[in-house]
Amino acid sequence: MNLRSPLVQRVSIDQWYRAEVFLVNEIGLFKRADIEPDGRVDLGCELLVPASADSLTPLKQDTTCDLTIRPSTWAGAVETSLPNTGVAGFLASGKGSFEYTITPKHHCQQTYQRGPRYLRIYCQHVEKFPQQQQQQQQQHVHASPLDDWILPLVIGPIELLDDAPGTYLNGGVTNASIERWPPTTAMVHSSYRLFSSADNLAGNHTNNNVAIHESWESGIPGKIWDSALVMLQMLERMVQYKPDYITGKHVLDLSAGTGLIGLSVAKDAQPSRVTITELGEATDLIKSNVSLNSYLTSKCPLVVQDLLWGDEKQASVCGKADLILASDVLYESEFFEDLVKSFLHLCNNKNSSSVPGKIYIGYKRRGFDVEEETRFWTLCRQHHFDITLLNDHPSDEDACLVPPLATKSGVQLYRLTPSI
Ligand SMILES: C[S@@+](CC[C@H](N)C(=O)[O-])C[C@H]1O[C@@H](n2cnc3c(N)ncnc32)[C@H](O)[C@@H]1O
Repeated sequence: MNLRSPLVQRVSIDQWYRAEVFLVNEIGLFKRADIEPDGRVDLGCELLVPASADSLTPLKQDTTCDLTIRPSTWAGAVETSLPNTGVAGFLASGKGSFEYTITPKHHCQQTYQRGPRYLRIYCQHVEKFPQQQQQQQQQHVHASPLDDWILPLVIGPIELLDDAPGTYLNGGVTNASIERWPPTTAMVHSSYRLFSSADNLAGNHTNNNVAIHESWESGIPGKIWDSALVMLQMLERMVQYKPDYITGKHVLDLSAGTGLIGLSVAKDAQPSRVTITELGEATDLIKSNVSLNSYLTSKCPLVVQDLLWGDEKQASVCGKADLILASDVLYESEFFEDLVKSFLHLCNNKNSSSVPGKIYIGYKRRGFDVEEETRFWTLCRQHHFDITLLNDHPSDEDACLVPPLATKSGVQLYRLTPSI
């Protein structure tokens, strides 16, 4: 789920405002067929506040105000295309909307907390969604795994106004569509994904959490890929069942995209340090995500490094790692040799450490044929890595790391360990 129109930034208490969202798939394409002709998604929304002034996260529930939502009610003469469906969410359309109002818990005293607030929009209930998956199941076609799961969205900051409610804002019509607001109205465009320790996919955000800003316009590195969501669940299992793989270890998130996995390691585990790597031109997004979650930098050293696969000099700046997490890095066969070289440069081998390193790769089949895949794994073996596909080895000591989502999504989890 993504934001379709910005939100009004300065809101009065007890007034209704409109929020407009839309559904996209993993590669950002608008999802329409999945919900037509009669699919329905009911949304929920809650109010979050940063726990401290220095960092966006951890975000926690706002205990001083209530947020209520309802289906969109305002119908302007011009905006006939806007859905007023009687549903706070989506009805038979990938474009959805709802209205929200914020009310202080202790109304008369105006004791609500000052400062920025964030709306967390999440999926509460779905009906006949996704249609495509149902059709594919009937036709015995493999459906896209995460189609039935809608990643929640956090939007903000918004600011509560102390003034008399709604007397001047847009002539008092606060739930009008965004086009109806004066052009000078301050708007919020920023959205984030929020992940917490207890259950990433349920979005339980009451513990420490990580906020990730995606930059869809930046292309491949700018978003969180399905494989990263699966590896995040693998990481949770690692923390629970194999903490010694991480505790006190140098963990490296290879070609991290948004930095989600590296930041989550710093949040959930006690590594000695975390290195997050990307192509030089793609590290700005990771650095800004580190800043959003700057409370994590007090937990362990967190370094963002430029790394082009195969570049030994850049790899030596990163240093050898005990645990390498590589999500969705196999998608261009011309870089196979360079990628394997980076594994060699970065992974502690039997000579360099008493405990040789481990590499975990999340791989989602897309364009490669069997021959190309085989070429990559053969290269790894030629460079003295033992390879285990964990999804296929239920008796392996690491089989407990494979989350159900891996099977559902078709993401394969491979472990590489140096054989010499
Ligand atoms: C599909 S994205 C995966 C991003 C992230 N790991 C995730 O799963 O969300 C692949 C990443 O590999 C990086 N990449 C592509 N070619 C690379 C190269 N030759 N050297 C280093 N990184 C590269 C891209 O910048 C991109 O962020």
